Amino acid sequence: MAKKFPELVFSGVQPTGSLHLGNYLGALKRFVEMQATHDCLYCVVDLHAMTMPHDPAQLREATRAVAAAYLACGIDPKRNIVFNQSRVAEHAELTWVLNCVARVGWLNRMTQFKEKAGKDRENASAGLYDYPVLMAADILVYRATHVPVGEDQKQHLELARDIAQKFNNDFAASIAEHGHGDAFFPLPEPLIQGPATRVMSLRDGTKKMSKSDASEFASIGLTDDDDAIAQKIRRAKTDPEPLPSEAAGLKGRPEADNLVGIFAALNDETKDSVLRQFGGGQFSTFKAALADLTVAKLAPIRAEILRLRADSGEIDRVLADGAERARAIARPIMDQAKDVLGLIR
Ligand code: TRP
Repeated sequence: MAKKFPELVFSGVQPTGSLHLGNYLGALKRFVEMQATHDCLYCVVDLHAMTMPHDPAQLREATRAVAAAYLACGIDPKRNIVFNQSRVAEHAELTWVLNCVARVGWLNRMTQFKEKAGKDRENASAGLYDYPVLMAADILVYRATHVPVGEDQKQHLELARDIAQKFNNDFAASIAEHGHGDAFFPLPEPLIQGPATRVMSLRDGTKKMSKSDASEFASIGLTDDDDAIAQKIRRAKTDPEPLPSEAAGLKGRPEADNLVGIFAALNDETKDSVLRQFGGGQFSTFKAALADLTVAKLAPIRAEILRLRADSGEIDRVLADGAERARAIARPIMDQAKDVLGLIR
């Protein structure tokens, strides 16, 4: 009988650049939903943000900005644990252990490394190469079982499962001997679902929405004002056909698919039900409704982000408290891992 672990949710967002609608629909909105049914840890992964060249002052501000966005979207820091990764040294400590479990061949297959390293792979940081192992440690150091992530993180989650499995196998005898039964770590499951787990650029429906896009009209920031939101949606790229009457008709129409997906995700409905209302109609009508909906959903979030950012005291207190509670879970697990591994403590 495989050992059962209690359900625990972990997820993280990198403090790089400012957050946009894609982060909200792909991650934050799901995090908020999970808190109704699960114990959750929501981390600002500042150690991951260092894997690419970074500016210290910007990292500090971006860390607070992600924390503010968590709270503004509705994550309750009393019911959940909200913290920044670097404060809990056990993440880095377990990373070393997992580095000795993960195989170089596994890391060589990670597509995100190839994308981020670009042509000059020799010059990428060793941290960027090791990014997925740190991510596995983030999850496993709490024995988290469920991980809400966007589509693009699926491969990293599979790697985390492979690492957990190999640890459980390699040290099976010691794990049993130390009273942990047949598994030390759970195999964490990705939670990827919903109509907009991957929000695309408003200028090119085949590219992911990104703040670093050359066009400022490509993404909607969480602190954009109402006029900016409406203008960006009005200008969003479309095609000349009217909207189809069901989701199947969005195939091969990436821009239409993206806008309908955003509407569906914001309004908690399916693409089919959105198209029952707007199918056959012109984009202009649909875009006006989408702009109204987006403004209605983002305006309260923006107001709360701005309020929290005006005085970082509240954010800093939340992060300090969260780190303490996170460490209280991670430390005993790390100590047990050391015992299993034969590391004297
Ligand atoms: N790599 C994730 C991303 O870019 C962020 C992340 C870091 C994460 N550690 C994590 C997500 C652990 C889930 C669980 O989106």
